Amino acid sequence: MVEFTEKSKQELEALKEEVDKEYQAWKDKNLSLDMSRGKPAPAQLDKTNGLLKEMTDYHTEAGLDVRNYGVLDGIPEMKKIFSDLLDIPAQNIIVGGNSSLNLMFDAMMRLFVFGTMGETPWGRLDKVKFLCPSPGYDRHFMVTQKLGVELISVDMTSEGPDMDQVEKLVAEDDAIKGIWCVPKYSNPQGICYSDETVDRLASMKTAAKDFKIFWDNAYGVHWVFEDVKVKNILDACKEAGNPERPYYFFSTSKISFPGAGVSIIAASDKNIAEIKNIMTAQTIGADKINQLRHVQFFKDAQGLRDHMKVMAECLKPKFETVLNTLEKELKGSGLISWENPKGGYFISVDVLPGCAKEVVRLAKEAGVVLTGAGATYPYKKDPKDSNLRIAPTYPTVEELQQAIDLFCVCVKKAGIEKLLEA
Ligand SMILES: Cc1ncc(COP(=O)(O)O)c(C=O)c1O
Repeated sequence: MVEFTEKSKQELEALKEEVDKEYQAWKDKNLSLDMSRGKPAPAQLDKTNGLLKEMTDYHTEAGLDVRNYGVLDGIPEMKKIFSDLLDIPAQNIIVGGNSSLNLMFDAMMRLFVFGTMGETPWGRLDKVKFLCPSPGYDRHFMVTQKLGVELISVDMTSEGPDMDQVEKLVAEDDAIKGIWCVPKYSNPQGICYSDETVDRLASMKTAAKDFKIFWDNAYGVHWVFEDVKVKNILDACKEAGNPERPYYFFSTSKISFPGAGVSIIAASDKNIAEIKNIMTAQTIGADKINQLRHVQFFKDAQGLRDHMKVMAECLKPKFETVLNTLEKELKGSGLISWENPKGGYFISVDVLPGCAKEVVRLAKEAGVVLTGAGATYPYKKDPKDSNLRIAPTYPTVEELQQAIDLFCVCVKKAGIEKLLEA
């Protein structure tokens, strides 16, 4: 395919006529599809319905009645599953409620209100800044933005955040208190951090003594094509002499049920003691009935891994539909580039600068709602107006095929119009 960027004005005008006709034909179909958020499809959720069966045993192995009060940090069986699954000692895990984002928000609030390890609470400082590798997860950025933190965008590379930028920034500014990280199959690009990236994050010199890595391993076991191994940040930081630096988050939201799963925060011994000390005032403990239900359904870490094979089977045809269509319709067009994710929940694309918002608008007018352009950047502002997140998990394959065919037409239409403007 000759790149569109190489074509003459006349050629582009002829192509525009064709694409306009195709676009109108799509509009006439009156589609109504929502691809804006990364949610599992109903058919995928059905695979976990065993979790909903009536519980007949409400006791842990040690005889604890989960229907009653008690246990701040989670039942031992649930901790063991997470411990074996993620290679984290059980004593360094606190089991939370139904949302890891909630644990991240709480962790941030504790830093703002109480501070950590005797350092000044962040809420009492004039300025707090946070590094936001972008494109990234909009809710991360929102947590920090709500608290008045200045968000600093850092570029992503195929190995994780651009570590040259990160090291320079954190070394020279003590107002930079932390970084958001999605280390495996990142949202939205599906990038897995290299060992070198993990080691550099663990060992870099930070001007802030209480610098925190918010390590959100949300897609830690969510392979689709290949199970990639990412180095354990807790071990790496311990080895580098910075054991208190990371807070590690994980949940079963996209393993069992979003909004009804089980989450964890994991950290060093000292961090866990500090967190528990404050949490004791906040709660008697998270929902142990749900924890035991998860233990009874998955049985052990291997049971959970086996379940992820079933999840991968559900997701593979959907990812293939999007990736094959992009390849067939747009490869070599010069109008778009994308990463081929090995897992996770998203496919991230970059269209011609200045075209992302227009693609979203065109798709919406033809009945397909995409994640808003800019959502993957701090303050929802993509400086190039180029990045778009495709969430292929919720629609059926048939719906997805229609949506992605239309998406390709919108990318061509917006791209050609942009080139004709130049
Ligand atoms: C990177 C990332 N972290 C966290 C979450 C939300 O997790 P939870 O349901 O455990 O709050 C999501 C959901 O899309 C996500 O993509």
